[in-house]
Amino acid sequence: MNKIRLGVNIDHVATVRNARGENYPDPLKAALLAQKSGADSVTIHLREDRRHINEKDLKLIKSKLKIPLNLEIAATKEMLDIALKRKPPFVCIVPEKRKEITTEGGLNLNFKKDFLKKIINRLKQKRSRVSLFIEPSLIDIEKSKNLNADCVEIHTGKFCNLINKNKNYNQELEKIKKAVNFGNLLGLEVHAGHGLTYKSAKILSKVKGITEFNIGHFLIGESIFMGLDKVIKNFRKIIS
Ligand code: PXP
Repeated sequence: MNKIRLGVNIDHVATVRNARGENYPDPLKAALLAQKSGADSVTIHLREDRRHINEKDLKLIKSKLKIPLNLEIAATKEMLDIALKRKPPFVCIVPEKRKEITTEGGLNLNFKKDFLKKIINRLKQKRSRVSLFIEPSLIDIEKSKNLNADCVEIHTGKFCNLINKNKNYNQELEKIKKAVNFGNLLGLEVHAGHGLTYKSAKILSKVKGITEFNIGHFLIGESIFMGLDKVIKNFRKIIS
């Protein structure tokens, strides 16, 4: 069995940097340390409002990183142009609302469908692997396949919230399992991300067919106490 890949999202290193408008902590340093500590890829989300990573970070990290860079972008012309210029090996298309604290849900695949299809094909022509961040919904899995995406990333936020609040998560877990199975059946690579902690990652690592986790907020937060290297190694152990 192939090992499950761990993508480390370092956006919140930039959030801390930007809180003071300083040049530290340095997201590039975090990206290189994540690589050294066993991450399989590094994820950054270039937001329209540049609240964490900016284009200078993207350029630097892309030029220095040896493992794949996974760039998250909204489906806009500006972001498409940046991604085509920088050619990250992985691109994940995510929904974006200016006022949200974080990415609150999966993409609405009925909105700007033709533009989405165009973005996916243009990025694939540049040899980027394209993933769509979606809810665990069979309809959205099928739509992603029809849009010619290589992968889907299942939004695990709802599942993780239930776990954090000690509520029953079985129904949500079933939804995720069905979505993963259906995605695999259609030949899509299926990833999972958002809100993952040690506990939720452990439960989801037992779902057959998920090939990649993308983890940020908890991982960076926990690193304050344990160090990035140790936390990445802990996650590696948990998901393998
Ligand atoms: N995957 C995607 C597509 C995301 O947009 C994000 C961040 O919102 C994550 C994973 C990581 O989520 P978190 O920071 O909650 O671990």
